[in-house]
Amino acid sequence: MCPAILLGLINSVIHFVRVDSGADPLHEVETSLGDFLTDMARAATPSAMRAGVEIRTHLAEGLPRARVDVRLLAEAVGKLIDNAVKFTPSGGEVRLWVGYAREGLEIRVEDDGPGVDPAVAEQLMKPFSLGDESYARSHGGMGLGLPTALRVMERHGGRLIVERREGGGGVARAILPMERLSPSTESAA
Ligand SMILES: Nc1ncnc2c1ncn2[C@@H]1O[C@H](COP(=O)(O)OP(=O)(O)O)[C@@H](O)[C@H]1O
Ligand SMILES: [Mg+2]
Repeated sequence: MCPAILLGLINSVIHFVRVDSGADPLHEVETSLGDFLTDMARAATPSAMRAGVEIRTHLAEGLPRARVDVRLLAEAVGKLIDNAVKFTPSGGEVRLWVGYAREGLEIRVEDDGPGVDPAVAEQLMKPFSLGDESYARSHGGMGLGLPTALRVMERHGGRLIVERREGGGGVARAILPMERLSPSTESAA
């Protein structure tokens, strides 16, 4: 195994253990979720381009600002985008969206891949679960992405849902509770 891959695997384990242990307090900063998602899209574009996948960002007017730990949230959403790109065939698209949802503030990562089988979605939230082993192994990874993202969302009082969209494709929904909404949202600014 080449050193870069080994280092990546070691880092994944360290990131999971750190967020799972709750040892580090959340470093909360009032953040524009629109700017946050734009930055996430920019960061993911080079690797998506290498995979022949286009990343599109859908940002509406008046997006919320929220109190979040930006570094942790970026780690969580980064894992979701990684998965979306990884499972989308070349020529496909990954769409990023943020806005208000019934349960709170939602960051949504949609892909053109097979999506997660509802029968295994809960299992995949546990460390080292890979779902369809043969498919997962051919795509790399060791099953810490979703558990890490889930713990980040839970530490914000939120949730993570991975689903298969009606009509095909996958979607990951990272939900922040409404209490995280800042009084000064962009629409008011
Ligand atoms: N967007 C997605 N589309 C299809 N399957 C997915 C997606 N995201 C995650 N999975 C499934 O969940 C498994 C675990 O993903 P993840 O927790 O991110 O682990 P890893 O660290 O290996 O990437 C993958 O091997 C795959 O089976
Ligand atoms: Mg992953």
